[in-house]
Amino acid sequence: MKIAHLSDLHFGAIEPEAPAALREALLQAAPELVVVSGDLSQTGTSAELREARAFLDSIPIPQLIVPGNHDMPRGWRLWDRFRRPWHHYRKIVSEDLEPVITRPDLLVIGTNSARSAGWNADWSQGRISHWQLDRIRQACVSTPPSALRVLVIHHPPAGPDTGTHRALLGRRQHFFEAISHAGIDLVLSGHFHTSYAIPVSLPGADPRNCVLSVTSTATSHRRKGEPNGFHLIEGGASTLKITRWQVGPTGLQPAHAWHFQATAPRRHWSAASADETGAAAPSLSTPPPSRESILPFSQTKLHKGTTLMPPASVRFSSSSSTGGFSFVEG
Ligand SMILES: [Fe+2]
Ligand SMILES: [Fe+2]
Repeated sequence: MKIAHLSDLHFGAIEPEAPAALREALLQAAPELVVVSGDLSQTGTSAELREARAFLDSIPIPQLIVPGNHDMPRGWRLWDRFRRPWHHYRKIVSEDLEPVITRPDLLVIGTNSARSAGWNADWSQGRISHWQLDRIRQACVSTPPSALRVLVIHHPPAGPDTGTHRALLGRRQHFFEAISHAGIDLVLSGHFHTSYAIPVSLPGADPRNCVLSVTSTATSHRRKGEPNGFHLIEGGASTLKITRWQVGPTGLQPAHAWHFQATAPRRHWSAASADETGAAAPSLSTPPPSRESILPFSQTKLHKGTTLMPPASVRFSSSSSTGGFSFVEG
């Protein structure tokens, strides 16, 4: 299994040469799936979203895309933001805001964490609803234990080891409980424009870790001190290698890799090693400590009418849309 994880393309605020370099690197890396974890555009206009759609259409690889907080109308277009936040996105990028791919060895669940407004001043912050958490649990019910379970959500539920001043995903303790129950192995996020891959502690009667991959902006000049890049994820339900590709002196290339391994049957993930790509051999390192304070697992009531995802070959399914909250940067 090989997945390219891109995020925060931000068409409308593009580094001019970045899209072509990204396309070339993706064709070289040859993943079987490209995941885009939101912020395809800068201000959610139809022109920016069309640019993003045209770029993605130029990559002949199956794709799963979720929106970010920049993909709905911003600034003076408040009326559109509240009345029809996803009108342009649905029309141009994808009618489905929360696509799902299922196959015998892989389940990928897209979730929309962007919101058109919130009680806080910063509407760029993301949140997840109880309905969405139920949907994640239900999507995993019929998934084979041997399949890698991946969740794609724009707003990260945990920050890098160096810390962050940015707000994390709202309602994340419920989020951690839900993905622990669902057996999620890997969470793919963006929003911070910072690249990291870490194990994240999950609650439960038998606590375990999942892996969180957060990637920098793939093509925007709105960098947060890091080159443009993406993550290439290889492996399966027992081992994962996440390679950061980033712009260097000779173009977009592998720069660093994180390795994780899972212990069965708990799906408990820990860091196995890390290496600078190009080194002769990976150097062993101590797994980082758990980084989230954990609440006890609580029984969760499932809503009626939540869609079950039957096993299939590669399949895209439409199941929901969410209204929203969000603004500002990220
Ligand atoms: Fe962003
Ligand atoms: Fe964002």
